[in-house]
Amino acid sequence: MQNFTFKNPTQILFGKGQISNLAQHIPAGARVLMTYGGGSIKTNGVYDQVVAALQGITWFEFAGIEPNPHYETLMEAVAVVKAKNIDFLLAVGGGSVVDGTKLIAAAVNFEGEPWDILAKNATFTSALPLACVLTLPATGTESNGNSVVTRASTQEKLAFGSPLVYPQFAVLDPETTYSLPPRQIGNGVVDAFVHIIEQYLTYPVNAKVQDRIAEGLLLTLIEEGPKALTEPKNYDVRANVMWAATVALNGLIGVGVPQDWATHMIGHEITALHGLDHAQTLAVVLPSLMYQQRQQKREKLLQFGRRVWGLESDNAEVLIDQTIAATRDFFERMGVPTRLRDYGVPETSVDVLVAQLVQHNYVKLGEHGDITPEVSRAILLAAW
Ligand code: NZQ
Ligand code: ZN
Repeated sequence: MQNFTFKNPTQILFGKGQISNLAQHIPAGARVLMTYGGGSIKTNGVYDQVVAALQGITWFEFAGIEPNPHYETLMEAVAVVKAKNIDFLLAVGGGSVVDGTKLIAAAVNFEGEPWDILAKNATFTSALPLACVLTLPATGTESNGNSVVTRASTQEKLAFGSPLVYPQFAVLDPETTYSLPPRQIGNGVVDAFVHIIEQYLTYPVNAKVQDRIAEGLLLTLIEEGPKALTEPKNYDVRANVMWAATVALNGLIGVGVPQDWATHMIGHEITALHGLDHAQTLAVVLPSLMYQQRQQKREKLLQFGRRVWGLESDNAEVLIDQTIAATRDFFERMGVPTRLRDYGVPETSVDVLVAQLVQHNYVKLGEHGDITPEVSRAILLAAW
């Protein structure tokens, strides 16, 4: 196991009815801006619950943060924060709303062009405090310091991370997820699954705690994910999926181990150019990447196949093939197609995607830094 330091400062308020408790965690006298997306919280009752919980607090709202949150929209929110003297942000929605709110928090006191936080890794020294009510289990953003933002005008999707933008608290009420359409249920399970894989499926470093937790989370998603589609009002299923998605990317399983993230980086370029949902890109790239990197990931692929998929074979190559096939089949069963052509992306766009990776300097991806643009091309071609 490698050396590490670990701290996760986000307080979790988990379970039915927890929205009603959120006001006690907001600093006294704060002027709050509630941020949200395209209106799902208005139709599923979450908005009303938050409004009731904010009684007695001075609050304002900013609506319209889109999936894959747009930088342009977020800068409009920054203007509202300044005009209304806001000092606390409350994001209510899915990962896009939470991620977008993190950039708002970082941009408010940033001198210069806030896009530089994403494009040039510019440092910022303060951020507004923020918290969230999460309605879509998937990204883990509710208790991490990461954010992914899209600049619509240039079709770029970039990430930043800072301890300053961890949510102070996150309300996770599984009942808020009952209203998710099947596509978003599938997306959420696939995204969380791939987060675990990015931190697990590298090479062994004898990190037994991290491996066993990762395998338990993967098994939970394999068992409960399909049930979330067939039994959409099953509270226990939703609760297990929601908590699995949080633990998948709250930092715990990533400490002391090598990490990959190539599937995500290649996937972000596909979303930026072709508009696929985040998890759709992961379902396309991961099986192909597992195949391409099968030598480098050999030991962990075998461990994954045996311990998680329960596979056995005397022939290691057969076992690895079966492991990749089982993973692809799981994504398909969650309703997320696994080929680029399934989404109408032309094969010729592979070259454009590779050029974008080069432009963003993603030229040494993976846990060994050996996923060069040529390797990314091979992965994308095989994913077509
Ligand atoms: O906008 P509204 O109307 O709220 O509708 C949303 C949106 O259309 C809807 N939705 C959310 N909760 C709902 C609901 N509909 C019905 N009932 C509910 N309870 O779902 C749609 C998708 O929402 P979005 O927030 O975009 O999805 P998700 O949570 O999957 O977030 C995706 C974004 O997170 C980034 C992705 O790149 C993408 O931009 N990621 C962030 C990460 C992080 N910060 O750590 C890590 C991830 O790897 C990922 O990259
Ligand atoms: Zn993801």
